[in-house]
Amino acid sequence: IDLTSPMKQACFQLHYHILTPGIDVLPEADARLIEAAKAATQTSYAPYSNFCVGAAVLLENGETVCGSNQENAAYPAGTCAERTAIHYANAQFPGVRPLAIAVAARKASENGFLEQPISPCGVCRQVMIETQARFGKNLRVLLYGEKAIFELETASVLLPFQFDSASL
Ligand code: THU
Repeated sequence: IDLTSPMKQACFQLHYHILTPGIDVLPEADARLIEAAKAATQTSYAPYSNFCVGAAVLLENGETVCGSNQENAAYPAGTCAERTAIHYANAQFPGVRPLAIAVAARKASENGFLEQPISPCGVCRQVMIETQARFGKNLRVLLYGEKAIFELETASVLLPFQFDSASL
């Protein structure tokens, strides 16, 4: 390391688990949450992308709240499954902490789900971060793919350099 240099290097270490789907790879509660996310893809309204996404949020009170992507002819007006589920959960059960969110996706034209884990968009990552900040605890994230499941102990893994209320 050149200590005289005005430019320092920094890096993030982001940890997550890569699980191979199969029997007993996940605790029962996680497996159930993923099944709920998969089922929620059936409620997707995606006539424009034909890309059906489902999300399921497990709350501290034991409730599971699901959401799916809801598209619009004015494209940006649509919402992703993750935000639908998180905001719906907060609206249904204000003040109850979401413990985990599972996300799954499939193409309407194909059988089965995406092989690789679905990757939430930046806006949904920001909403997950707000949920963590709001309740002062981690939100676990389960990103489902038929060939791999990513298990994140915190949504922070999804959003380094996150913007939060401390900046305001
Ligand atoms: N979408 C989600 O709902 N969640 C994601 O993680 C990625 C993308 C939706 C938005 C849009 O309705 C469709 O998938 C294609 O981008």
